[in-house]
Amino acid sequence: MTDPYRDSAARHDELNAGLPTPTRLFARDFAERHGVESICDFGCGTGVLMAELAADGRTVFGCDLSEAMCSVAQERLRPLGDITVANENMVTYRPPVQVDLATCLFDSINYLLDTRDWFALFGNVAKSLRPSGHFILDFVTEYDLRECWPAHRSVIEREDWVLVRLSAFDVTRSVGVEHMIWHVFQEGQWKTLIEEHKHAALAVQDVVRGLADVGLRTVEVVDADSNGVVEPDATTRIRIVARKENHA
Ligand SMILES: C[S@@+](CC[C@H](N)C(=O)[O-])C[C@H]1O[C@@H](n2cnc3c(N)ncnc32)[C@H](O)[C@@H]1O
Repeated sequence: MTDPYRDSAARHDELNAGLPTPTRLFARDFAERHGVESICDFGCGTGVLMAELAADGRTVFGCDLSEAMCSVAQERLRPLGDITVANENMVTYRPPVQVDLATCLFDSINYLLDTRDWFALFGNVAKSLRPSGHFILDFVTEYDLRECWPAHRSVIEREDWVLVRLSAFDVTRSVGVEHMIWHVFQEGQWKTLIEEHKHAALAVQDVVRGLADVGLRTVEVVDADSNGVVEPDATTRIRIVARKENHA
């Protein structure tokens, strides 16, 4: 499978500056309030959350399927000590010790196009958590993919790159597809690079049931943008906090 972040990893943070911040701030504040000492970030991307929590003195682990994203994360974490970002699938990656907090933020789970992989990830997270540990998850909704993605078109220009973003919803497979067409000025000429990002979403009740099946009890479900109640025909991103039952 082609790495959808192969070309954009180096520009990911610049492109998304500020975007996933509410959930990341929530996770950081949650870690503070719950005395979290260790964390594993599944689908850690460029390692921003890992770096913030490591700088606060916590033990951090993380994995990402994209080699390019892992390289950026590894570079960011280098000054913070001996931290390894595993270039592994979050469905199977297991941190070396059970942790207090597991996270999977900013659409990472939406890249799992097969429902069985969402449930396999939940099982993996449950095994990676110590008893009473917490899992924070956010994901874009099927409403977002179906109703909002077809209208997404944008052009972003910087001095040495131009990005055209075109999204659609594949009704036959219920998958959101975004094409990111990069024009990058390199070595005296413009080069065009095309990335394809595919997202799937589960209904919130199926996510809650899947978590419960592996012993993760949902303690909070909110609209991640408003922090309010989830509205089936308006919520584009959901945040869930689940707690590992002691018997799990
Ligand atoms: C939108 S980025 C979010 C990154 C990070 N969680 C954040 O908050 O900035 C989605 C990330 O999920 C990663 N990803 C997608 N599928 C994955 C999988 N099966 N296992 C691990 N990482 C995956 C991608 O490589 C990408 O880095």
